[in-house]
Amino acid sequence: MFLPKQRKIRTFALLIGVITFTTFLFSYTFRDPSVDFFRHAFRLSDDFLSKGQCACPRCVAEAEDDPWFAERFNQSVHPLMTRENSVLSEETFKWWQWLQSERRPANFSEVVEELFRVIPDEVLYADAGPKRCRTCAVVGNSGNLKGAQYGALIDSFDFVVRMNQAPTTGFEEDVGAKTTHHLMYPESAKDLDNTTSLVLIPFKTLDLQWILSALTTGTIKHTYTRVPSRIKANKDKVLIYSPTFFKYVFDTWLEGHGRYPSTGFLSLMLAVHICDEVSVFGFGADQYGNWHHYWEENDLSGAFRHTGVHDGDHEYNVTLQLADKHKIKMFRGR
Ligand code: C5P
Repeated sequence: MFLPKQRKIRTFALLIGVITFTTFLFSYTFRDPSVDFFRHAFRLSDDFLSKGQCACPRCVAEAEDDPWFAERFNQSVHPLMTRENSVLSEETFKWWQWLQSERRPANFSEVVEELFRVIPDEVLYADAGPKRCRTCAVVGNSGNLKGAQYGALIDSFDFVVRMNQAPTTGFEEDVGAKTTHHLMYPESAKDLDNTTSLVLIPFKTLDLQWILSALTTGTIKHTYTRVPSRIKANKDKVLIYSPTFFKYVFDTWLEGHGRYPSTGFLSLMLAVHICDEVSVFGFGADQYGNWHHYWEENDLSGAFRHTGVHDGDHEYNVTLQLADKHKIKMFRGR
């Protein structure tokens, strides 16, 4: 038998319990930041909180919460080439060869075979799961990074992805110093340090021959223009962007807009498919509407905007949509 006072206390305690539990359930379901409070308060494991996708508070790969994203996102197309996935469908091979057609291309599968004798043939980053929280920064080359002071923040990510000619020396305060992955093609190539993965975006068979040559004999000096005959890069960290993934990005994410995706958009898509959380820096115009690079003082001509092969506006809109849907986080700079 409870006395009226004891009954009141018991009802009150029960009520508090129910409220706490419901709040937790609600914030967990909707990925509210207050989950962090419960995580710490009750020392709940990441496995329990992650709903199976990843150990970050939000996981890019959680496609089910957005139909637009779910319709496009396909994790079964691996972004990087291996011997095994290098066999292209006839349609993909035709499309890829058409990007920068060669008069007398070498035999594609022979070149791939030779290449993978020099660079590693591994399936990387396919380790998504409830224990992984891989945070990534994709750093584009926009002038909006000038004076943005993102350096320390950018360096705090697990992966820092840069592209083409992007320098860091002298720009550390704004763009950071760390680079884990650097995407380039022969005509945009630059030397890297030993810890960075060179990610080659091949547009033609000659590009695969070039990377092999640039890491070994140095015989290829020309594609459609002069290219570096040698490149400083750790050959054990060289990766090749998959032509199949390249086409998937173009067809599915850009819906055929432009002639082919820009390096920036290809880099962003790589991150969306191998990371759990993606933050984007250095994309888009600066506050005055200029489309220059962050290292260019006076040239405001907007090289990226005027190449004619990319649909910059469409790419930017898709990028904004990803941000709107909380799939990526945009840092707009200055
Ligand atoms: O000019 P570049 O191709 O080297 O730049 C790399 C990427 O950075 C572009 O593909 C684009 O996505 C992004 N960029 C941008 N705005 C600029 C310059 C570059 O969004 N002003």
